[in-house]
Amino acid sequence: MGLITRKQFIQRSGMALMGAPVLSALAPLTSFSACSTDTDPLSMAADEAFWNSIRQLYTLDDKVINLNNGGVSPQPLPVQNGHIERYRRCNLAPSYFMWRKVDQEREPLRERLAQLVHVSNEEIAINRNATEGLNTIIFGLNLSPGDEVVLSPYDYPHMLNAWRQRELRDGLKLNYVQLDLPMEDDDATVERYREAITPKTKVIHITHVINWTGQIMPVKRITEMAKAKGCEVVVDAAHSFIHLPIDLRDIGCDYAATSLHKWLCAPFGTGMMFIRKEKIGKVWPLLGNHEPQSDDIRKFESLGTRSFAAEMAIHDALDFHDTIGQDRRSARFRHLRTYWTDKVRDVKNIRFYTSHEDRFAGGMSTVGIEGWEAEEMVGHLFETRGLHTTPVKWEQVNGVRISPHLYTAKAELDLLVDELTLMAKR
Ligand SMILES: Cc1ncc(COP(=O)(O)O)c(C=O)c1O
Repeated sequence: MGLITRKQFIQRSGMALMGAPVLSALAPLTSFSACSTDTDPLSMAADEAFWNSIRQLYTLDDKVINLNNGGVSPQPLPVQNGHIERYRRCNLAPSYFMWRKVDQEREPLRERLAQLVHVSNEEIAINRNATEGLNTIIFGLNLSPGDEVVLSPYDYPHMLNAWRQRELRDGLKLNYVQLDLPMEDDDATVERYREAITPKTKVIHITHVINWTGQIMPVKRITEMAKAKGCEVVVDAAHSFIHLPIDLRDIGCDYAATSLHKWLCAPFGTGMMFIRKEKIGKVWPLLGNHEPQSDDIRKFESLGTRSFAAEMAIHDALDFHDTIGQDRRSARFRHLRTYWTDKVRDVKNIRFYTSHEDRFAGGMSTVGIEGWEAEEMVGHLFETRGLHTTPVKWEQVNGVRISPHLYTAKAELDLLVDELTLMAKR
């Protein structure tokens, strides 16, 4: 294993060391590089020394163990530094540096984001979060009274609310697909969506990875089925982007959006939206543009003054991502989930709302305990062990969601395991 110490990383910044360099391209911004000779994502997923070196790039609080990275993730130092450096530059003369200089990084950024999800750069708009992107799509679609939309009660509340607003205002009809999480039979899942479609259905809204439990949905199969029936498909990719490898062209959906401050660790308040090229002209921008019916994706970027420094530091998050690699990242997420869930899955009174199979879950898992309410669990885990988690009390789910990130140490997950085991005995 070709790992070196953090001090050595700093000293040798930028040098490709022995074996396959995993983190050397970060050097210019961070004075940091690291490498591992291990290139197989699965064996690297278990390489604690390597991941501990990644942990050193994060500025963590020593009293709060953050196991809610699904909500929003911290940025590693290369991203913080890139952001701050641009922010300072913008402050030298904002309208000059922000609009004439920093903004020049936008088109290359669009291209990089598009490549990551395997679509054209002419199909990607950069915005502030998944809520903004999906609301733009939901409110921008031309739909008439009586048109139907298929969605699930497990979709994200902001999107459910957006569709409900259209139901109230425009007379749309919403048909909800009931899911019993975890769903471990893709045929059955696709069937439930198929059954909800009627001749009046125009749109299917799917959450690729359900935030409440981390359930991975068979989004490609649902899309294929729905498109064969003439429906358009909107994908909420907030929890799939970077968490899993994602290929929007292969999925075949028409619209998608994600936040970049979740699994990518880009600055807070950064997101992107995908609209299939031939559909762009028909979607109205949520924030008006001088050519609202244009087929230029940039019409969705009339967002007014915002932090261009944060937006352009997405480049740094992409550099960080590239040097680790998608496969290693996804493998580590799964490895961490399996690490702690395997230790408690057979403990009496513990119940999982998330599958233990990799086909259906990435790094997140939601666990409940007989006799405990979600909020009580969250409070207890924090008070006893400093573990910060998020409650999930939604539909049939009553538990806490655990979402580690690349910097999470197994010793932290051991604390979780110990406390859950004690709680289950009470
Ligand atoms: C599935 C899903 N979609 C959308 C969002 C909204 O993300 P944001 O608040 O970054 O817009 C979230 C946030 O957690 C989510 O879990």
